[in-house]
Amino acid sequence: MPASIIDGKKIAADLRKDMKARLSGRSEGDRPGLAVVLVGDDPASAVYVNQKEKACREIGVNSFMHRLPGDTGRGELLALIGRLNASREVHGILVQLPLPEGIDTKEVISAILPQKDVDGFHPYNIGRLWSGESTVAPCTPMGIMALLDSTGIEMKGLETVVVGRSNIVGKPAAAMLLSRHCTVTMCHSRTKDLPDVVRRGDIVVAAVGIPNFVTGEMIKPGAVVIDVGINRVDGALVGDVEFEPALQRASFITPVPGGVGPMTIAMLMQNTLQLAGV
Ligand code: GUN
Repeated sequence: MPASIIDGKKIAADLRKDMKARLSGRSEGDRPGLAVVLVGDDPASAVYVNQKEKACREIGVNSFMHRLPGDTGRGELLALIGRLNASREVHGILVQLPLPEGIDTKEVISAILPQKDVDGFHPYNIGRLWSGESTVAPCTPMGIMALLDSTGIEMKGLETVVVGRSNIVGKPAAAMLLSRHCTVTMCHSRTKDLPDVVRRGDIVVAAVGIPNFVTGEMIKPGAVVIDVGINRVDGALVGDVEFEPALQRASFITPVPGGVGPMTIAMLMQNTLQLAGV
Protein backbone atom coordinates (compact mmCIF):
# COMPACT_ATOMS: atom_id res chain seq x y z
CA MET A 1 0.00 0.00 0.00
CA PRO A 2 1.46 3.42 -0.87
CA ALA A 3 2.24 5.86 1.92
CA SER A 4 -0.21 8.42 3.24
CA ILE A 5 0.74 11.87 2.01
CA ILE A 6 1.26 14.44 4.74
CA ASP A 7 -0.62 17.55 3.61
CA GLY A 8 1.63 20.37 4.79
CA LYS A 9 -0.33 22.89 2.78
CA LYS A 10 -3.53 22.12 4.68
CA ILE A 11 -1.86 21.86 8.10
CA ALA A 12 -0.14 25.22 7.52
CA ALA A 13 -3.37 26.83 6.33
CA ASP A 14 -5.16 25.62 9.49
CA LEU A 15 -2.40 27.07 11.66
CA ARG A 16 -2.57 30.42 9.85
CA LYS A 17 -6.35 30.48 10.25
CA ASP A 18 -6.01 29.87 13.97
CA MET A 19 -3.42 32.65 14.31
CA LYS A 20 -5.57 35.04 12.30
CA ALA A 21 -8.45 34.37 14.68
CA ARG A 22 -6.19 35.02 17.68
CA LEU A 23 -5.20 38.41 16.24
CA SER A 24 -8.64 39.44 15.02
CA GLY A 25 -10.00 42.66 16.43
CA ARG A 26 -6.57 44.07 17.25
CA SER A 27 -5.83 47.60 16.16
CA GLU A 28 -2.76 48.16 14.00
CA GLY A 29 -0.75 49.49 16.91
CA ASP A 30 -1.49 46.38 18.93
CA ARG A 31 -0.39 43.81 16.37
CA PRO A 32 2.83 41.80 16.38
CA GLY A 33 5.49 43.24 14.06
CA LEU A 34 7.93 41.30 11.91
CA ALA A 35 10.89 42.99 10.21
CA VAL A 36 12.34 41.17 7.20
CA VAL A 37 15.69 42.20 5.74
CA LEU A 38 16.60 41.07 2.22
CA VAL A 39 20.01 42.03 0.86
CA GLY A 40 20.70 41.60 -2.84
CA ASP A 41 18.66 40.07 -5.61
CA ASP A 42 18.78 36.30 -5.14
CA PRO A 43 15.60 35.24 -6.98
CA ALA A 44 14.68 32.38 -4.62
CA SER A 45 15.12 34.64 -1.58
CA ALA A 46 12.92 37.29 -3.20
CA VAL A 47 10.15 34.69 -3.62
CA TYR A 48 10.46 33.51 0.01
CA VAL A 49 10.40 37.08 1.32
CA ASN A 50 7.28 37.87 -0.72
CA GLN A 51 5.59 34.77 0.73
CA LYS A 52 6.48 35.92 4.24
CA GLU A 53 5.03 39.37 3.57
CA LYS A 54 1.82 37.81 2.22
CA ALA A 55 1.45 35.57 5.29
CA CYS A 56 1.84 38.61 7.58
CA ARG A 57 -0.92 40.42 5.70
CA GLU A 58 -3.23 37.41 5.84
CA ILE A 59 -2.84 36.86 9.57
CA GLY A 60 -2.72 40.45 10.78
CA VAL A 61 0.97 40.82 11.57
CA ASN A 62 2.58 44.17 10.73
CA SER A 63 5.44 43.57 8.32
CA PHE A 64 8.37 45.89 7.91
CA MET A 65 10.19 44.98 4.73
CA HIS A 66 13.72 46.20 4.08
CA ARG A 67 14.98 45.34 0.60
CA LEU A 68 18.57 46.51 0.30
CA PRO A 69 20.96 46.46 -2.66
CA GLY A 70 23.57 43.71 -2.85
CA ASP A 71 26.42 46.16 -2.25
CA THR A 72 25.02 47.38 1.08
CA GLY A 73 27.92 47.92 3.48
CA ARG A 74 28.47 46.16 6.78
CA GLY A 75 27.97 49.36 8.77
CA GLU A 76 24.68 50.19 7.09
CA LEU A 77 23.29 46.68 7.66
CA LEU A 78 24.36 46.61 11.31
CA ALA A 79 22.90 50.09 11.82
CA LEU A 80 19.55 48.91 10.41
CA ILE A 81 19.55 45.92 12.75
CA GLY A 82 20.33 48.27 15.63
CA ARG A 83 17.29 50.38 14.75
CA LEU A 84 15.05 47.31 14.47
CA ASN A 85 16.37 46.04 17.82
CA ALA A 86 15.32 49.35 19.37
CA SER A 87 11.94 49.65 17.65
CA ARG A 88 8.94 49.06 19.90
CA GLU A 89 6.86 48.07 16.85
CA VAL A 90 9.17 45.22 15.87
CA HIS A 91 8.93 41.95 17.81
CA GLY A 92 10.76 39.69 15.38
CA ILE A 93 13.70 40.32 13.04
CA LEU A 94 14.56 38.02 10.13
CA VAL A 95 17.57 38.48 7.88
CA GLN A 96 16.99 36.38 4.78
CA LEU A 97 19.86 33.97 4.06
CA PRO A 98 22.06 33.50 2.17
CA LEU A 99 23.57 36.99 2.41
CA PRO A 100 25.69 38.18 -0.53
CA GLU A 101 29.32 37.11 -0.47
CA GLY A 102 31.52 39.42 1.54
CA ILE A 103 28.97 39.94 4.30
CA ASP A 104 29.82 38.15 7.54
CA THR A 105 26.61 36.20 8.22
CA LYS A 106 27.62 35.28 11.78
CA GLU A 107 28.25 38.89 12.68
CA VAL A 108 24.90 40.00 11.26
CA ILE A 109 22.89 37.26 12.99
CA SER A 110 24.69 37.90 16.27
CA ALA A 111 23.72 41.58 16.07
CA ILE A 112 20.02 40.68 16.36
CA LEU A 113 18.74 40.82 19.93
CA PRO A 114 18.17 37.18 20.99
CA GLN A 115 14.68 38.12 22.18
CA LYS A 116 13.84 39.35 18.65
CA ASP A 117 15.59 36.50 16.82
CA VAL A 118 12.52 35.05 15.11
CA ASP A 119 14.59 32.48 13.17
CA GLY A 120 16.29 31.09 16.27
CA PHE A 121 19.67 31.48 14.54
CA HIS A 122 21.41 33.61 17.21
CA PRO A 123 24.17 31.64 19.02
CA TYR A 124 22.39 32.24 22.33
CA ASN A 125 19.19 30.64 21.04
CA ILE A 126 21.09 27.78 19.38
CA GLY A 127 22.72 27.07 22.73
CA ARG A 128 19.35 27.11 24.48
CA LEU A 129 17.89 24.74 21.88
CA TRP A 130 20.71 22.22 22.37
CA SER A 131 20.38 22.53 26.17
CA GLY A 132 16.73 21.58 25.92
CA GLU A 133 15.54 24.99 27.15
CA SER A 134 12.44 26.49 25.67
CA THR A 135 13.35 29.07 23.09
CA VAL A 136 12.41 30.41 19.70
CA ALA A 137 13.58 27.64 17.39
CA PRO A 138 14.32 27.62 13.65
CA CYS A 139 11.14 27.59 11.57
CA THR A 140 11.79 24.76 9.10
CA PRO A 141 12.67 22.14 11.74
CA MET A 142 9.68 23.30 13.81
CA GLY A 143 7.55 22.67 10.74
CA ILE A 144 9.11 19.21 10.39
CA MET A 145 8.20 18.38 14.00
CA ALA A 146 4.63 19.58 13.49
CA LEU A 147 4.30 17.36 10.41
CA LEU A 148 5.69 14.36 12.31
CA ASP A 149 3.24 15.06 15.14
CA SER A 150 0.39 15.20 12.62
CA THR A 151 0.98 11.52 11.76
CA GLY A 152 0.26 10.47 15.34
CA ILE A 153 3.37 8.24 15.51
CA GLU A 154 5.13 7.84 18.84
CA MET A 155 8.61 9.22 18.16
CA LYS A 156 10.21 8.10 21.41
CA GLY A 157 13.09 5.70 20.79
CA LEU A 158 12.75 5.63 17.01
CA GLU A 159 15.78 5.52 14.74
CA THR A 160 15.84 8.86 12.98
CA VAL A 161 18.22 9.69 10.17
CA VAL A 162 18.78 13.32 9.24
CA VAL A 163 20.45 13.72 5.86
CA GLY A 164 22.08 17.16 5.68
CA ARG A 165 23.88 19.15 8.36
CA SER A 166 22.98 22.77 7.66
CA ASN A 167 22.63 25.27 10.48
CA ILE A 168 19.15 26.17 9.20
CA VAL A 169 17.64 22.68 9.01
CA GLY A 170 19.76 19.57 9.69
CA LYS A 171 21.45 20.54 12.96
CA PRO A 172 18.42 22.14 14.68
CA ALA A 173 16.18 19.28 13.46
CA ALA A 174 18.57 16.84 15.16
CA ALA A 175 18.36 18.82 18.41
CA MET A 176 14.55 18.79 18.34
CA LEU A 177 14.36 15.08 17.53
CA LEU A 178 16.76 14.33 20.39
CA SER A 179 14.60 16.31 22.77
CA ARG A 180 11.71 14.04 21.72
CA HIS A 181 13.80 10.98 22.65
CA CYS A 182 14.59 9.83 19.12
CA THR A 183 17.88 8.07 18.38
CA VAL A 184 19.40 10.51 15.92
CA THR A 185 21.97 9.81 13.23
CA MET A 186 23.21 12.73 11.17
CA CYS A 187 24.61 12.07 7.77
CA HIS A 188 25.53 14.12 4.75
CA SER A 189 27.03 14.04 1.29
CA ARG A 190 30.30 12.58 2.58
CA THR A 191 28.87 9.86 4.83
CA LYS A 192 30.34 6.42 4.08
CA ASP A 193 27.78 3.76 3.17
CA LEU A 194 25.01 6.33 3.21
CA PRO A 195 22.34 3.96 1.81
CA ASP A 196 22.88 1.55 4.71
CA VAL A 197 22.66 4.38 7.22
CA VAL A 198 19.46 5.81 5.74
CA ARG A 199 17.93 2.32 5.62
CA ARG A 200 18.07 2.20 9.42
CA GLY A 201 15.70 5.15 9.70
CA ASP A 202 12.18 4.74 11.03
CA ILE A 203 12.07 8.46 10.31
CA VAL A 204 14.11 10.01 7.49
CA VAL A 205 14.53 13.79 7.21
CA ALA A 206 16.13 14.69 3.88
CA ALA A 207 17.64 18.18 3.79
CA VAL A 208 20.73 18.09 1.57
CA GLY A 209 19.54 20.24 -1.30
CA ILE A 210 20.38 17.64 -3.96
CA PRO A 211 17.50 16.42 -6.15
CA ASN A 212 16.57 12.75 -5.64
CA PHE A 213 19.60 12.22 -3.39
CA VAL A 214 17.66 9.79 -1.18
CA THR A 215 16.50 7.00 -3.45
CA GLY A 216 13.50 4.76 -2.90
CA GLU A 217 15.59 1.74 -2.05
CA MET A 218 17.19 3.61 0.87
CA ILE A 219 13.79 3.85 2.57
CA LYS A 220 13.02 1.25 5.22
CA PRO A 221 9.56 -0.20 4.58
CA GLY A 222 7.09 1.64 6.78
CA ALA A 223 9.36 4.64 7.45
CA VAL A 224 8.10 8.21 7.76
CA VAL A 225 9.81 10.40 5.16
CA ILE A 226 10.11 14.17 5.47
CA ASP A 227 11.50 15.82 2.35
CA VAL A 228 12.83 19.32 2.95
CA GLY A 229 14.39 19.73 -0.51
CA ILE A 230 13.17 22.39 -2.91
CA ASN A 231 15.16 21.88 -6.10
CA ARG A 232 14.31 23.19 -9.53
CA VAL A 233 14.91 20.59 -12.24
CA ASP A 234 13.84 21.39 -15.81
CA GLY A 235 11.39 23.97 -14.50
CA ALA A 236 9.73 21.60 -12.00
CA LEU A 237 10.15 21.56 -8.22
CA VAL A 238 11.52 18.30 -6.87
CA GLY A 239 12.62 17.26 -3.42
CA ASP A 240 15.72 15.51 -2.10
CA VAL A 241 13.82 12.20 -2.10
CA GLU A 242 13.00 10.12 -5.15
CA PHE A 243 9.26 10.49 -4.57
CA GLU A 244 7.46 7.70 -6.43
CA PRO A 245 9.61 4.75 -5.25
CA ALA A 246 9.74 6.19 -1.72
CA LEU A 247 5.94 6.53 -1.74
CA GLN A 248 5.67 2.79 -2.35
CA ARG A 249 7.79 1.93 0.71
CA ALA A 250 7.04 4.60 3.31
CA SER A 251 4.09 4.77 5.71
CA PHE A 252 3.91 8.58 5.52
CA ILE A 253 5.66 10.98 3.15
CA THR A 254 5.65 14.72 2.49
CA PRO A 255 5.17 15.97 -1.07
CA VAL A 256 7.25 18.67 -2.77
CA PRO A 257 5.78 21.22 -3.10
CA GLY A 258 3.08 21.27 -0.43
CA GLY A 259 4.91 19.52 2.41
CA VAL A 260 7.53 21.26 4.53
CA GLY A 261 7.60 24.53 2.53
CA PRO A 262 4.28 26.02 3.70
CA MET A 263 5.02 24.92 7.27
CA THR A 264 8.16 27.05 7.46
CA ILE A 265 6.15 30.21 6.95
CA ALA A 266 3.41 29.12 9.35
CA MET A 267 6.09 28.52 12.01
CA LEU A 268 7.62 31.92 11.28
CA MET A 269 4.25 33.47 12.04
CA GLN A 270 3.97 31.34 15.18
CA ASN A 271 7.41 32.49 16.36
CA THR A 272 6.48 36.11 15.67
CA LEU A 273 3.35 35.78 17.83
CA GLN A 274 5.40 34.09 20.54
CA LEU A 275 7.98 36.91 20.59
CA ALA A 276 5.16 39.45 20.73
CA GLY A 277 3.71 37.61 23.73
CA VAL A 278 0.46 36.70 21.94
N1 GUN B 1 16.91 30.94 3.92
C1 GUN B 1 16.39 29.70 3.75
N2 GUN B 1 15.63 29.37 4.81
C2 GUN B 1 15.67 30.41 5.66
C3 GUN B 1 15.07 30.65 6.93
O1 GUN B 1 14.35 29.82 7.51
N3 GUN B 1 15.35 31.86 7.48
C4 GUN B 1 16.15 32.77 6.89
N4 GUN B 1 16.38 33.91 7.52
N5 GUN B 1 16.72 32.57 5.72
C5 GUN B 1 16.48 31.39 5.12
